[in-house]
Amino acid sequence: MAKKNIGPVLALYPSPVIVVGAMVDGKPTWTLAAHSGTMAHSHVMVSLVQAHYINKGIRENKKLSVNVVDESWLKEADRMGTISGNKTDKSTAFDWTMGENGAPVINDAKVSIECEVDGNYELERFDHFVCKILAVYADETALNDAGKINYHVFKPVLFEFPTYEYFVLGEKVGNCGKMNA
Ligand SMILES: Cc1cc2nc3c(=O)[nH]c(=O)nc-3n(C[C@H](O)[C@H](O)[C@H](O)COP(=O)(O)O)c2cc1C
Repeated sequence: MAKKNIGPVLALYPSPVIVVGAMVDGKPTWTLAAHSGTMAHSHVMVSLVQAHYINKGIRENKKLSVNVVDESWLKEADRMGTISGNKTDKSTAFDWTMGENGAPVINDAKVSIECEVDGNYELERFDHFVCKILAVYADETALNDAGKINYHVFKPVLFEFPTYEYFVLGEKVGNCGKMNA
């Protein structure tokens, strides 16, 4: 094989950067995450170290928001990955609104997904919250005429672990299912 085996490392990157929101002891808290993904057509998974402050609230209330980060608020989002609610109160870090289902949602996020926790796959001191999508809140500026999220305009920030760098969604390179037409 021409490829080099670089070992059993994490290599499924880049991945979208999100700020997870949840209520802990009646106040919102926010945690940056890059390890999340789609499950079925109805759920998303969020992978969070069990020792994180936010996990307590998610386990208790079973509600969380997934706020998709774009460059306009990357600086504030990044901060949520460098400080912990275990030491610092993060409840005032963002202007927020309570979602219709009880999860706090960041006002600056152009796309926020409100979820209910359906299950938890515990692995290697991580909670993997299986989250049923209850609502998606999108800023009008992020939508196209058909009311769908317009990724030509709304450009999620992406992250990769090996070098700890942020990227932004790039150029369109084709139309799905029509590449061989
Ligand atoms: C770019 C970036 C991505 C991160 N992704 C994750 C992640 O997917 N899962 C996780 O458990 N922690 C992740 N972290 C670490 C947490 O955001 C960080 O430890 C945070 O302070 C925990 O906050 P809390 O204790 O208030 O919940 C990431 C940090 C950064 C900077």
